[in-house]
Amino acid sequence: MRVAMIGTGYVGLVSGACFADFGHTVTCVDRDARKIEALQRGEIPIYEPGLDRLVETNVREGRLDFTTELPGPVAAADAVFIAVGTPSRRGDGHADLSYVHACAREIAAALAGFTVVVTKSTVPVGTGDEVERIIRETRPDADVAVVSNPEFLREGAAIRDFKHPDRIVIGTTDERARAVMTELYRPLYLNQAPLLFTARGTAELIKYAANAFLATKITFINELADLCEKVGGDVQEVARGIGLDNRIGSKFLHAGPGYGGSCFPKDTLALIKTAQDHEAPLRIVETVVAVNDQRKRAMARKVAAALGGSVRDKTIAVLGLTFKPNTDDMRDAPSIPLITAFGDMGARVRAYDPAGMEQAKRDLDGLVTFCGNAYECAEGADALVIVTEWEQFRALDLDRLKQAMRQPVVVDLRNVYRPDEMARAGFTYASIGRPA
Ligand code: NAD
Ligand code: UGA
Repeated sequence: MRVAMIGTGYVGLVSGACFADFGHTVTCVDRDARKIEALQRGEIPIYEPGLDRLVETNVREGRLDFTTELPGPVAAADAVFIAVGTPSRRGDGHADLSYVHACAREIAAALAGFTVVVTKSTVPVGTGDEVERIIRETRPDADVAVVSNPEFLREGAAIRDFKHPDRIVIGTTDERARAVMTELYRPLYLNQAPLLFTARGTAELIKYAANAFLATKITFINELADLCEKVGGDVQEVARGIGLDNRIGSKFLHAGPGYGGSCFPKDTLALIKTAQDHEAPLRIVETVVAVNDQRKRAMARKVAAALGGSVRDKTIAVLGLTFKPNTDDMRDAPSIPLITAFGDMGARVRAYDPAGMEQAKRDLDGLVTFCGNAYECAEGADALVIVTEWEQFRALDLDRLKQAMRQPVVVDLRNVYRPDEMARAGFTYASIGRPA
């Protein structure tokens, strides 16, 4: 099969490289010339484990290439994927569909022969109908089927998630499109990953429902962590105790500083807006969003409490800036409101992240002294705050850390360490939902 992947970001590049790895011929298109030139030189513009090798192999074997020119690859394709961004629209929180609509117009103009146009971007219910309307308006003669195929990969584990999905959701009732999509995903289908065919709008809803449910699970355990702190329970044992019940499941029950990232925050908001517009409000999701927003400020107060009530004129070392480990993505990272709050409260902030420093310099310019490693970051600090659970923060040399700091105070927002080991090492230690 020939595939054109429009939008070569976190999702487009991973999906394109994986489809190429399945044996299809893929052209990744992006209008960002710098990104495409970098990829043509063999440089990967994002940090995603394993992606460099996957891209290199498939380029070398002639199944994957990159261009800024959309018409050629679209005309040649059996399937054209739309994998452009759908950020929050400024002002109202709806998904901004301007990139998707612009893309649909460009694709329409270039179509030749029967083509399946697939929205992989996360889009509100009804977007597939609008994409189809735009295509038919631009090219009344086009022979096209518009399909919804939402993506469920996580950053940092993107290749594994793409190649070993729990399910593949395909929203179409068109038989020819169904055949093309089945062929595209053939290696996974043969591997027993269920292909779930639904109506197009239902597929669009499944994506938002999944993200909102996961965000709810995280928020539920975060609030339980707060209760554990008040009554002396251990949230990790609570999570294990409920997670062993198959009806609940153990995943996404890690309490922390609140969820962030390029998707949960914007997608929960967009779903709330859709539901409100249709007078079927999702009150649980509305509460999740409000609780999660408040939590980030509460984390700054937690650090202040560990320092006796105030961070004024104190130096705080922040380990981890990205919204999760194994990515360089800083979009909606909890570290941003946290560090902003530290600044507002009169503290100085030092920070280190293994992969996110370049993006962080854009988001936190002037607020932070950026450091070269964890120990340099701890230098002269009154408190060290673990914000993102990168592997390299899991086995720090605690003596060296203590030596470097002005006061041995650690606030571990990811429960990377055990309270007893930190006490033995001589730290004042606070974590999430566990006895001190
Ligand atoms: P991204 O911002 O990393 O990439 C989007 C790319 O699209 C950019 O490189 C941009 O230049 C390009 N683009 C925009 N308009 C274009 C056009 N008309 N022609 C060609 N290129 C164009 O975004 P992302 O994180 O890959 O997310 C893409 C979509 O996938 C979003 O809807 C997101 O919600 C969804 N999604 C993301 C993830 C994730 O982990 N990041 C997971 C599942 C779903
Ligand atoms: C999430 C979903 O997990 C993917 O299935 C989905 O495809 C993607 O959004 C998307 O639509 O873009 P991602 O944002 O990459 O993936 O990362 P997650 O691992 O889900 O983490 C999101 C946030 O939740 C992070 O800030 C993370 O620290 C937090 N989290 C996650 C917790 O606080 N506790 C948990 O137990 C799990």
